[in-house]
Amino acid sequence: DSSKLRYDGRVAVITGAGNGLGRTYALHFASRGASVVVNDFGVAAQGETGSATPADKVVQEIISAGGKAVPNYDSVENGERIIETAIKAFGRVDIVINNAGILRDKSFAKMTDKEWDIINNVHLNSAFKVTRAAWPHFRKQHYGRIIMTTSPAGVYGNFGQTNYSAAKHGLIGLSDSLSQEGAKYNITSNTISPLAASRLTETVMTKELLSVLDPKSVLPLVAYLTHESVNVSGGLFEVAGGYVSSARWECSKGAVFKADQTLTPAAVKQRYNEINDFKVGALHPNFKNPIDYLTLMKQATQVKSNPQGPALRYDDQV
Ligand code: NAI
Repeated sequence: DSSKLRYDGRVAVITGAGNGLGRTYALHFASRGASVVVNDFGVAAQGETGSATPADKVVQEIISAGGKAVPNYDSVENGERIIETAIKAFGRVDIVINNAGILRDKSFAKMTDKEWDIINNVHLNSAFKVTRAAWPHFRKQHYGRIIMTTSPAGVYGNFGQTNYSAAKHGLIGLSDSLSQEGAKYNITSNTISPLAASRLTETVMTKELLSVLDPKSVLPLVAYLTHESVNVSGGLFEVAGGYVSSARWECSKGAVFKADQTLTPAAVKQRYNEINDFKVGALHPNFKNPIDYLTLMKQATQVKSNPQGPALRYDDQV
């Protein structure tokens, strides 16, 4: 089928590829011609005790099917070693899928430094380390495709997951900035927010929901975003069970406090409904089209055109 996207000659590094979503990606990329580094530290869902078995199993599966893959057993915390494995085995790296992850859920009142640190290390700091190690290769070859894996908890927050949602939200910022720094080198970076049946979710979701959340439903979006023909970058995509959507920031049109008015807490209170009104004229700013505060302020206060003219007063000037 000539419409199939292929990855011949490309090298894909997939972290946490021994189970769940990562395993699905690894098998797919290998079946479409890529050489794959199957990284997995082989830990339990909470991050305990490492083992080589999950990575080895996936590599065996790929090789039996005639594909190319090597295992890497390092924790993503040692990201540079994972990229080293790619360079040693295949001489290059083209695709990095930051996917490895664990959970340490606790209500905030009981959150310890240890639980905070391990989640931020495995998710956010390790995505930094793996990606930074790949970055010089990407720049040199003027090509790179990066995926960050956030979560609905990272986008919206979740009760009992302050550590996880903070780390996962950080990945969105990391990806957004990388998409800007990578643009001139044909390096793209996108973030996915998936839901899938895996050992991370089997205890928290209903059987009915799990039955429609096949990890394979997340794969097509990831395969699309990492293909050489696609230069989408800086995106955030929600994907689950056959639903694929694009998410973005929305700001209300907002209130502009004009020249000769006073911006006080009481004035904010008075206009709070307007500040929080998304129905009329809401904006969708992004880094290419940020909110132009300066123009707003110029119109509102004529500060630039008439320095002697009326100006916005603040609370402490009243
Ligand atoms: P999973 O538990 O099936 O697979 C994760 C893999 O990562 C495991 O094989 C584990 O050994 C590996 N891993 C954990 N810590 C590692 C480390 N320090 N170094 C290397 N490998 C390590 O989980 P699943 O569901 O496939 O999750 C994949 C990613 O998707 C995670 O980042 C998770 O937070 C994220 N995610 C998953 C959702 C879901 O519904 N399954 C929802 C939202 C996000």
